[in-house]
Amino acid sequence: MTTRRSVITAAAASALTGGEATAQTAKDDPKETIAILGTGRVGNGIGRHWVAAGHTVTFGSRTPTTEKAEELARIFGRKVPVTGLKEAVAAAAIILLAVPYRVARETLASLGDLTGKILIDPTNAPASPNNSYPLPYNPTWSAAEEIQSWAPGSKVVKALNHINYMVMANPKMGQGPVTITICGDDADAKARVARLITQSGLEAVDVGPLIGARLIEALAKLFSAYRYTHPDMTFEVHLRTRPNDLGPVQTRPSR
Ligand SMILES: NC(=O)c1ccc[n+]([C@@H]2O[C@H](COP(=O)([O-])OP(=O)(O)OC[C@H]3O[C@@H](n4cnc5c(N)ncnc54)[C@H](OP(=O)(O)O)[C@@H]3O)[C@@H](O)[C@H]2O)c1
Repeated sequence: MTTRRSVITAAAASALTGGEATAQTAKDDPKETIAILGTGRVGNGIGRHWVAAGHTVTFGSRTPTTEKAEELARIFGRKVPVTGLKEAVAAAAIILLAVPYRVARETLASLGDLTGKILIDPTNAPASPNNSYPLPYNPTWSAAEEIQSWAPGSKVVKALNHINYMVMANPKMGQGPVTITICGDDADAKARVARLITQSGLEAVDVGPLIGARLIEALAKLFSAYRYTHPDMTFEVHLRTRPNDLGPVQTRPSR
C-alpha cells in the first residue's frame, strides 16, 4: 500500500512527470556532488535538472525505501540513489534542505558537522497557523539565518523558496523567465548555487549577504498573498536587471 509519506502524492507525481528535465550546461561546467534531503515535491522538482546536468545526486530520506527509489527512477528516467540522511550528506559538497521548516532543526542536528558544505535553504516557515490573511511578517527574522545558526560552519545560501515546485520541475510553465533571488555570506557558494539554478532553466539574481533572506522569504509571502486575494491567478518573480544609471547606492547592509 502507498502511504502519503512513503512517496510524494499522486498529484505531485503527475505534475513532476509532466515537464521535461532542463540541463543547460556548458561542456566545461564543473560537476557537483549534491545531497537532496527530502524526497518530496521540491527535491523531485529541482533534482531532475541536476541529475540531467550530470551532477552526482543522492537523495537523503528518513526512510530510504525501494519504493521511493523506484518513484524517483520513474520521474527522472533513471536510477538515483536514495540513502539515509547522514549517508547522503557524507560525500556531498552541496546539500539541498528540501524538508519542512518545522523539522529543519532536528534534520540538521542528525547530520553531524557540516563545516565547509554549501547548504541550500528553500524553506518557508508557515505563513500563519490557520492560513488566515494578512500574513504575519517579522522583518528582523529569517529561517535562513536560523538555519545558519543550526549548522554553523556550513555556507547557507537562501534559494528556491519563492517558486512553486511545479514551475521548478517545468520552468516553461512560468510562461517567461523566472528569477530565483539568492543570498548568502559566501561568494563562491552563491556562484555554485547560481550555476545550478541556471542549469535548471531558471535565472539566479544574487541580492547579497544572508541577512537578505528576510526579504527573499517575504517574497514567498507576497506570492501567497496574491493567490489569496486572486484565487484564479498566480505570478512568477522576474527581476529585469539592468546597469545602474541611478547613481551610487545610499545604504549598506548592517547587522
Ligand atoms: N511545495 C512548494 O511549491 C515549495 C516551493 C518552494 C519552497 N518550498 C519549501 O521546500 C521545503 C520542501 O517542501 P516540499 O513541498 O518538497 O515538501 P513535501 O513535498 O512535503 O516534502 C518534504 C519532504 O521532507 C521529508 N521530511 C523529513 N521530515 C519530515 C516530516 N517530519 N514531515 C514531513 N516530511 C518530512 C520527507 O522526505 P522523506 O520522507 O524522504 O524523508 C518529505 O517528502 C519546505 O520547507 C517548503 O516550505 C516548497
